[in-house]
Amino acid sequence: MTATPLPDLGRRLLTNVDANHSDFAESMMLVPAEEYRDPSRFARELDVVFRRNPLLVALSCDIPNPGDFTTLDIADRPIVVVRGEDGVARTFLNACRHRGRSVAEGCFGHSRRMTCPYHSWVYDTEGKLVGLPGREGFADLDVDGLMAYPTAERAGAIFSILTIGAALDIDEWLGDMQSALEMLNLTKLHRHDVETKLPSGNWKATADGYLDGYHLGYLHRNTIGAKAITNRNTYDLYGPHVRIGFANKGIVDQRDVAPEDWPEPYDCFSLVHYVFPNISISGHPHRSLMVSRIYPGPTPGESTVVQYQYFREPLVTDEQRAEAEQKRQLYRDVTYEEDFLTVIDITRHTDVLAATGEPFRFGRNEMGNQNLHRWISRLLA
Ligand code: FES
Repeated sequence: MTATPLPDLGRRLLTNVDANHSDFAESMMLVPAEEYRDPSRFARELDVVFRRNPLLVALSCDIPNPGDFTTLDIADRPIVVVRGEDGVARTFLNACRHRGRSVAEGCFGHSRRMTCPYHSWVYDTEGKLVGLPGREGFADLDVDGLMAYPTAERAGAIFSILTIGAALDIDEWLGDMQSALEMLNLTKLHRHDVETKLPSGNWKATADGYLDGYHLGYLHRNTIGAKAITNRNTYDLYGPHVRIGFANKGIVDQRDVAPEDWPEPYDCFSLVHYVFPNISISGHPHRSLMVSRIYPGPTPGESTVVQYQYFREPLVTDEQRAEAEQKRQLYRDVTYEEDFLTVIDITRHTDVLAATGEPFRFGRNEMGNQNLHRWISRLLA
């Protein structure tokens, strides 16, 4: 099986435009507001959803060369993802085996050795302990390297389970999302090295925004939604992952043309790939992408979103860098001022809504959101 080819997606979007609705789930879905605020449920989400199932921890292009690394801190797990001399990407707990100091720092970096600043224990890119000043004091040392998490690389992305010794079957986990990601050509991307880091409310309410094609022409009517035909989305559910198609206004001019022959198919529709539980990849094959990561916590009512822009060509000229920065600032403003302020407002209401037994309601046209909540409940069960 493979993901829906993009021309077929174009056909389905045109069908939805003509039918005046999105792809439909079988029924509406109610999710208790309590699930967005309950601290014990939040703790289980971190433990089960984020630490016992695969997370997309980096794109392959983030660490293309041996010695390249990236660090992140998610679900109370500080990790470093590093490409070894053998070309294999590995994820380690970013904590020295002496007394726990971080051995790598900075969002992205390059080093053939990770040296703990506290007492200079040294690890190589495969996590092996290769240097230890005063070794005679540790004659009985019981460890030989960093703690490694199960890790696999597919379709230009690196996935890890943040539980030591857990079984990782990444092909099973991704299913047809693997071929959907392959269609995006993630391996040949160049990151604009300016991070956008934004506060938001509850992580699931934040994810709801990324999975929701319904709000585009309303909340974003004056910005990124201006070119869209709202609420005519396609939803491809690949296990817990979702590919969302968005119809753009130009699609109606192509009614009599086969999607294979559309002159510029990506002006006719937009795409979001949501890799469960917390990654949104917005953009097209052959064009730039925005990758957003949702970091839950530290409380149920808080999350942080980190975004990077990726381009198909290296950013070498001042003009290219200025254009990339302009794009980054546009999406920063839109996602914070329109999306995340909305999520923060919703999160402020969850206590009172939960106290009155009120649910959040997801329509038949909100299949991506329904899939998110169904999968979280399934995993927690
Ligand atoms: Fe790392 Fe001591 S904590 S060398």
